[in-house]
Amino acid sequence: MSNEDGRQDAEQKDMASKAHANVHQDETDAAQGTTKLKIFRGDGEGGKEVEYELPAVEGMVVLDAVLYIQAHQAGDLAVRWNCKAAHCGSCSAEINGKPKLLCKSRVEEYEGQEIHVHPLRAFPVIKDLVSDVSWNYETSRSITPFTTDEQAPFIMYEEDVERLYEPKKCIECFMCQDVCHVLRTHHKHPEFAGPRFFTRMQWLEMHPKDTESRLRGLKEEHGLGYCNITKCCSEVCPVDIHITDNSIIPLKERVADEYYDPAKWLMRKIRGRRSPKTGEIIGRNGNRNGG
Ligand code: SF4
Ligand code: SF4
Ligand code: FES
Repeated sequence: MSNEDGRQDAEQKDMASKAHANVHQDETDAAQGTTKLKIFRGDGEGGKEVEYELPAVEGMVVLDAVLYIQAHQAGDLAVRWNCKAAHCGSCSAEINGKPKLLCKSRVEEYEGQEIHVHPLRAFPVIKDLVSDVSWNYETSRSITPFTTDEQAPFIMYEEDVERLYEPKKCIECFMCQDVCHVLRTHHKHPEFAGPRFFTRMQWLEMHPKDTESRLRGLKEEHGLGYCNITKCCSEVCPVDIHITDNSIIPLKERVADEYYDPAKWLMRKIRGRRSPKTGEIIGRNGNRNGG
């Protein structure tokens, strides 16, 4: 981490912890009027919004408000959080229908609007603001992991390291997964890995020390073709990963080059498929033993 990144990180943590501390002071000290939140209360079977009113505190983030309500008005309100500094990705939920980190969203941003807080919609609700995101971890396990025939530590060019940095920033908040219409609206969970994992696969595909190819998996198991490049995923990413431009489009180009280039198709028919990474012949159906 650079000095500048470190300074911003410390400022962000400081800001978040001050906001959190303020909410726990005597309300009469810090209150500047009141704030209202409408929070989903329920589970996978159903539920409804419940309105809560609490003292407004300058700089308060929505997570502060939810924790205040949990501490003073609704002890059984379920919310998932951890770092309170936009680092762990745990507090992702929806504010007014859009995925947000609750710890990074200031109440003041919603001045003049009602604030509706709901769990992520693309995954099953467990309770209140907590949804079950375990499907993402299963999907992660279905991706061929980093594979190399070299021993670490690796010697790598600086430009390769820099290219690998952006996708590695992911905090696994799954907000990109939540906003993607392929999952959110069309529920293609079994056959579409989603933008978070396209980012991961692009990281693996770019890694100069990785020897595997995931192009066949992207085309046949992980549904890259379902993505129609709406860029909604990039817009919600809290760490500014350019998911569509820097991960999905390059992967689509590589898959098209590998599978839809007529010259390559003919060569594959004649002599079998060659691994795009290693050049090794891996068979007409992608099997290393040929065939
Ligand atoms: S660009 Fe693709 S992956 Fe991203 S939200 Fe749109 S359809 Fe989903
Ligand atoms: S790519 Fe961005 S939005 Fe998606 S899970 Fe990672 S940090 Fe969250
Ligand atoms: S609590 Fe960690 S990102 Fe919000």
